[in-house]
Amino acid sequence: MKNRISYSLKVKPFLKWAGGKSQLLGQFQDYYPSELKTGKITKYFEPFLGGGAVFLDVVQKFSIESASLNDINEELILAYKVIQRNPETLIEFLYKYAKQYFNLSEEERKSYFYEIRTNLNFQRFQINHKKYSENWIPRAAQLIFLNKTCFNGLFRLNKKGEFNVPFGKYVNPKILDEENILALSKILQIAEINAGNFYSTENNIDENSFVYFDPPYRPISKTSSFTSYSKYSFNDPEQIKLGKYFAKLNGEKNAKLMLSNSDPTNENSNDTFFDDLFDGFNINKVNANRMINCNGNNRGQISELLITNYEVRNEKHRLHSC
Ligand SMILES: C[S@@+](CC[C@H](N)C(=O)[O-])C[C@H]1O[C@@H](n2cnc3c(N)ncnc32)[C@H](O)[C@@H]1O
Repeated sequence: MKNRISYSLKVKPFLKWAGGKSQLLGQFQDYYPSELKTGKITKYFEPFLGGGAVFLDVVQKFSIESASLNDINEELILAYKVIQRNPETLIEFLYKYAKQYFNLSEEERKSYFYEIRTNLNFQRFQINHKKYSENWIPRAAQLIFLNKTCFNGLFRLNKKGEFNVPFGKYVNPKILDEENILALSKILQIAEINAGNFYSTENNIDENSFVYFDPPYRPISKTSSFTSYSKYSFNDPEQIKLGKYFAKLNGEKNAKLMLSNSDPTNENSNDTFFDDLFDGFNINKVNANRMINCNGNNRGQISELLITNYEVRNEKHRLHSC
């Protein structure tokens, strides 16, 4: 394979992220376009980046020369940019937070957590998210610290843009993963990283491109409505806009496109929302261990959709297609 960068470490997402795809990578690999293997695809695009599990999988396996990474969450993008540009200073801040934190009793750790959370929220008016500066570095460290020590390792902002997840009481959270940050920083040297809406990544997509869309899930039941990762919501009109954008790219760009979402037929076999929206594309199903209801009664193997604008070569998987 040409130009393949070799990484000695298996680099993983630096944050825990709602809707993260790490658990599904084993299944997703069978649906990647075959042009990744032949080396024809050299450009990677991910408009809903989140923790970037699929990006990291693809970039460490195939000959990707450039990547365009995007997410609407400015705080997340701020942290990626800091890792890209100033990993060493970021590590120094995280080292300091970790050292202070582990020297405290449980009660004191809780207060320390809320102190950092208040500081992060207060500082948001001082930060210019459009222009990289030195004060992004401690902020990225605070975001990582909070993600590692908060309840369920989540990153959630309320409508005002405040981080509002409570303290998590973990015994030994990995606040600093130095090796992973340094290796991720190396990988990110091939990436252009932007904060914006999913349709702002269109430039440069061509026949050598693979675009993976992982929008917030469409809720599969009326009760499970966790689609708000930030102050921005992603409702059915947004899903429809994305479906139209997928069709537009398919018509204009000759790129390989893949999109994941929840499968509404888990809950209601008559719900044809995605069959209608992606009519004419390949709608595959993969198994996901995810709660079907927020009350947790109905846990188990439910399916998720993986929609592609190309045939999945493997016969085994064609059988599972809709
Ligand atoms: C399901 S998550 C992506 C998870 C990711 N694949 C991973 O493995 O961690 C969806 C992401 O879309 C972002 N998002 C929500 N609305 C968006 C929009 N209109 N444009 C771009 N990104 C958006 C959220 O901030 C969130 O990070």
